[in-house]
Amino acid sequence: MLEYAVFGNPIAHSRSPQIHQAFARQQGLPMVYERVLAPLDGFQAALADFFRHGGVGANVTVPFKTEAYAAADVLSARAQAAGAVNTLYKQPDGRILGDNTDGEGLVRDIVDLHGHTLAGKTILLLGAGGAARGAVGALLAAQPQALTVVNRTADKARQLAADQGVHWAEYATVAAQRFDVVINATSGSLNGDLPPLADAVLAKAELVYDMMYAAAPTPFLAHARACGAAAVVDGLGMLVAQAAAAYALWRGFSPELAPVVAQIRAEMEPPCAG
Ligand code: ATR
Repeated sequence: MLEYAVFGNPIAHSRSPQIHQAFARQQGLPMVYERVLAPLDGFQAALADFFRHGGVGANVTVPFKTEAYAAADVLSARAQAAGAVNTLYKQPDGRILGDNTDGEGLVRDIVDLHGHTLAGKTILLLGAGGAARGAVGALLAAQPQALTVVNRTADKARQLAADQGVHWAEYATVAAQRFDVVINATSGSLNGDLPPLADAVLAKAELVYDMMYAAAPTPFLAHARACGAAAVVDGLGMLVAQAAAAYALWRGFSPELAPVVAQIRAEMEPPCAG
């Protein structure tokens, strides 16, 4: 019986099974967790089938986070604020709870795993799509001095800012400004596209974060480092930390993050020649 699963399309390269198995080993419990490739027009049916046949908890990734939001019977406050769900849980009363742990994962990675401070800092968030929306609530809860959203399509930044009570700006407008922390939540990295942010902003930042991760530095982080950013961090820790929050919701146990990040990083290393 499949109790836990990650739904996405594509899904073959998801690291979630290895991450959750590592958490289960920490807790000392067995876990049945698999990847589910849902058809693009068949997510709701696949999810209903999963919960009907013994499913307890699901992670949801691209492109189904908005559909997962619609499928939930009840929503956490942070899922409501994000308008997206990455974690589903069949509660003891049978209702399906939709939560969003992405923002918590981001903040835990920056603060707990990498030891940076967000309180009192100026933060620039690049992008205004689902990934950015999921991050805003948790970033604000970390009490920065200011959080500014920039987006290629200004209307979307304006809308996000109005919905969640943050500042917004155009990329060109922030070119001469300084931000302590710059976070890339655009999907451009997937194709190696850099957001149109001035190099000077990256040069002045004390931390540049990319929600993307890869075995080698992402193009955005490689560029930020070349510009002189003091520290660069990719999104692998965020992936592990959002999974840990889901695991805690499902099984009442908060796993240690650092060893799991190290394990997944090692599994990602390209095999060395010779
Ligand atoms: P996700 O769920 O990953 O956030 P999304 O909701 O489609 O995906 O949002 C993608 C985000 O990446 C948007 O903010 C998009 O900017 P636009 O709203 O202007 O489209 C941003 N994005 C994607 N490619 C980009 C690029 N090459 N440069 C700058 N921003 C980019």
